[in-house]
Amino acid sequence: MTPSPRLRVLTGINTTGTPHLGNYVGAIRPTVRASRQPDTESFLFLADYHSLIKCQDPERVQRSTLEIAASWLAAGLDPEHVTFYRQSDIPEIPQLTWLLTCVTGKGLLNRAHAYKAATDQNQAAGAEPDDGVTAGLFMYPVLMAADILMFKAHKVPVGRDQAQHLEMARDIAASFNHLYGDLLILPEAQIDDHVALLPGLDGRKMSKSYNNVIPLFGPARELRKQIMGIVTDSRAPGEPKDTEGSALYAIYRAFAEDDEAAAFAQAFADGISWADAKQQLCDRIEQEIGPMRERYDHLMAHPAEIEALLLAGAQKARAIATPYIGTLRQAVGLRPVDATPKRDKKAGPARTGLPSFKQYREKDGLFYFKLTSPDGTVLLQSKGFESPRDAGRVVKQLQTEGSSALAELENNLDALESQRQEVEKALEQLRMVAEA
Ligand code: TRP
Repeated sequence: MTPSPRLRVLTGINTTGTPHLGNYVGAIRPTVRASRQPDTESFLFLADYHSLIKCQDPERVQRSTLEIAASWLAAGLDPEHVTFYRQSDIPEIPQLTWLLTCVTGKGLLNRAHAYKAATDQNQAAGAEPDDGVTAGLFMYPVLMAADILMFKAHKVPVGRDQAQHLEMARDIAASFNHLYGDLLILPEAQIDDHVALLPGLDGRKMSKSYNNVIPLFGPARELRKQIMGIVTDSRAPGEPKDTEGSALYAIYRAFAEDDEAAAFAQAFADGISWADAKQQLCDRIEQEIGPMRERYDHLMAHPAEIEALLLAGAQKARAIATPYIGTLRQAVGLRPVDATPKRDKKAGPARTGLPSFKQYREKDGLFYFKLTSPDGTVLLQSKGFESPRDAGRVVKQLQTEGSSALAELENNLDALESQRQEVEKALEQLRMVAEA
């Protein structure tokens, strides 16, 4: 018996742009930390199919994928512990995308924020609403739903801006399940509103769109130059300075332990010069980022190492995706024409209520229990037990451990399905040989 299924956490990383300190503090560092938790199973992938929506420069697509992968690995992502892969290495994802596309209302996609923003902008400019809008942008939420549903993720850590996409993934999964049976897991968004929002060079939120970012893995002297350029007020050395509203202090805070931050605040009160404060900030960031930069530079110089890691990650991911897409294809009717349709226990009208256990005594004097669905179908029939307590104990066990047992059965089903497909293929080949 395998241990009970762990919480499965999955998130995608856009492969556009070069990561900056804000991305590191707000996304990379917390995600890498969370991925080390023993009770979770982490899936992290490079959303390179998504990047094609925004970027149609092939060299840049490739370069960004490399840079982002190197950044996450350098920041401590452990591919032994996390399933780390590139979206486009998983052919099952676009397959699932199509299955989902066919159960997704077009109206649902019309309401997506990103699409609506594009059409609103066009309308404001007096253009046709769909001017310059690709079907890729329109379909973005379906591809994202496939990313998530393909791996039966329970939790999806994302920024607040992605909350709507998660709602859509749930809606799409529910539509599919309604038609074909409970095959997809409805994911939950995990939105952390407490992640540090780093100010940029000008004190506004650090963001590419404000052009105020400090790149995560530039050369050390570049980092120094950038930090020296952070906007401060005109207070002279010796004058007490406010930590409140100081971008310098806020960035320091995001890197420092509590006692270090307290000491830094005291130095502000004691009138540290801005130049010295910047020097201290520089040293503190460098202490954390410096060793990572070495690893980053190494990886960037050896892209084959990254490629190998990504392919190994894809293999791990596909061990799940391949059998599962088989089950889903089977469910929607994409099956060999001569296959006997599987009795579809799961599909059909939505069931209402929950199955329940009933205990009783038979004429043979033994004690039994059965699990029946609300419509009276017997789902499970026990053997006879000597005492009602023995039967009761097994019922308890089923009630408490049933979900993990079920999950295991599901995994077995998926594996069997892929074996069935293999056997069918072999049979097909044998038939061809026999006919020749
Ligand atoms: N759309 C996400 C973002 O902009 C990236 C992403 C793509 C993603 N697929 C995903 C996130 C699946 C979570 C799960 O940040």
